[in-house]
Amino acid sequence: MKNFRMIFLMIAAAMIIPASCKSRVPADLTTTAIIPRPVNVTGAGEAFKLNANTAILVDAGSDEILKTGQYLASKLNAITGLAIAVNEAKSEPEKGSIFLTLSDADQNLGEEGYSLTITKQLVKLSAAKPAGLFRGVQTIRQITLKDTDSGNPGKFIIPGGTITDYPEYSYRSMMLDVSRHFFGVEDVKQVIEYLAFYKINTFHLHLSDDQGWRIEIKSWPNLTAHGGSTQVGGGKGGFYTQEQYSDIVKFAADRYITIVPEIDMPGHTNAALSSYPELNCNGKATNLYTGTEVGFSSLCTKKEITYKFIDDVVREISALTPGPFFHIGGDESHATKVEDYIPFINRVQDIVARYGKKVIGWDEIALSTLKPNSVAQCWASVENATKATAQGAKILMSPAKKAYIDMQYNESTPIGLHWAAYIEVDDCYNWDPATYIPGITKENVIGVEAPMWAETITKLDDIEFLMFPRIAGIAEIGWTPAGLRSWDEYKYRLAKHEEWFDIMGINFYKSPKVPWEK
Ligand code: ACM
Repeated sequence: MKNFRMIFLMIAAAMIIPASCKSRVPADLTTTAIIPRPVNVTGAGEAFKLNANTAILVDAGSDEILKTGQYLASKLNAITGLAIAVNEAKSEPEKGSIFLTLSDADQNLGEEGYSLTITKQLVKLSAAKPAGLFRGVQTIRQITLKDTDSGNPGKFIIPGGTITDYPEYSYRSMMLDVSRHFFGVEDVKQVIEYLAFYKINTFHLHLSDDQGWRIEIKSWPNLTAHGGSTQVGGGKGGFYTQEQYSDIVKFAADRYITIVPEIDMPGHTNAALSSYPELNCNGKATNLYTGTEVGFSSLCTKKEITYKFIDDVVREISALTPGPFFHIGGDESHATKVEDYIPFINRVQDIVARYGKKVIGWDEIALSTLKPNSVAQCWASVENATKATAQGAKILMSPAKKAYIDMQYNESTPIGLHWAAYIEVDDCYNWDPATYIPGITKENVIGVEAPMWAETITKLDDIEFLMFPRIAGIAEIGWTPAGLRSWDEYKYRLAKHEEWFDIMGINFYKSPKVPWEK
């Protein structure tokens, strides 16, 4: 009996092994784990192989595209151990190259769309705009796979096929609160680098609050000298010099990410009120504050000096900020009477317009008369969001119960708050900006942002733990059409990104909701 079984197994093996050697099925592009999920992917039964001869070619004569090519080379070289060089394309790109071009792209791809055609011979990435090439480069990174089929460890392939891809929303963002706890330039750059990988295009810096003022204002130097000197818990705080802020702006711009600076007002202003007595209605400076209460501070909305102060701050920061938006906060102004709040916000909108910027504010700003190009960031109040759209303003969707990535995942995860909700990885993924608020549709929405408040976090490791893996889901909500999004499919792609988290050294939350492979 035993012998019979052995003979049977030998015959079966003899039948299977040669067959599998002859016709190995290459990795299929349609089953690669791209996040955010592209709009259209087709597979082909072949693959592009990376080797010592692989080159990246870019359109001749553009430093900007050359830089994107170099960015891709540095990422691929780090993963593959190759030394892929970047050159300008002479004529037809040679076999064996990865070609980045703006020359013959479909203009309907828009600002950030791209198309990829991958054959045995060539990987061709086309876009209508440089930002599209940069987004497509992230896809190339994510589909460069170990060639497990060949039995050659250390070899890499890109599965053959085509991708046509463009974002659902033009505004896809994360916010970092650097006021409650301060994070230095290198930490902020690391966060921006993570965002680039998931095609997020905006980074909102919450630069002032009760606990700390974090950006140098040359005409009001005590804001940072005094107002930046501490943080929640009484640590030493910190701030960005204008040069450091500009360095962050440039680092982000190199990744086609726009910085949105926020100076929160008229509430959340204790750090300023403590630095300059004249900003207080009673003319007395407040004490610095290192707790976590909200809603107790207000600029004196009736004093002219307040508007001189705001004018100077908006002017200096706007001059350093190439992006179109200035965030004026406006939330939780419980210490400001509503009859003072409304004219205050109206006047601040005029100041922001004077310096060529559009206003974003938390949803409370809808109580005022919004300018047509102002944006209300919906975090809490359906009523305010509805008031904003009734005035023709657009909505940035950040519902606290879904998108606040400083919330704990569950009762036992160690950092974060839970006043809005416990937000597991699937909760953060399972919502749609176009249907979340009845009566507010896709046409009303410019996009989605995941805010990270910093009451409980003190270091990059903490930011990573709250960001990952939730930020990948927020990125997909912003990029991928609702009809292509499903948790039951997404969770398997997300599971494969553990490999990326490990490669990048990210301290992520290993949620039991995700079918991790390791
Ligand atoms: C907010 O969470 N106070 C906007």
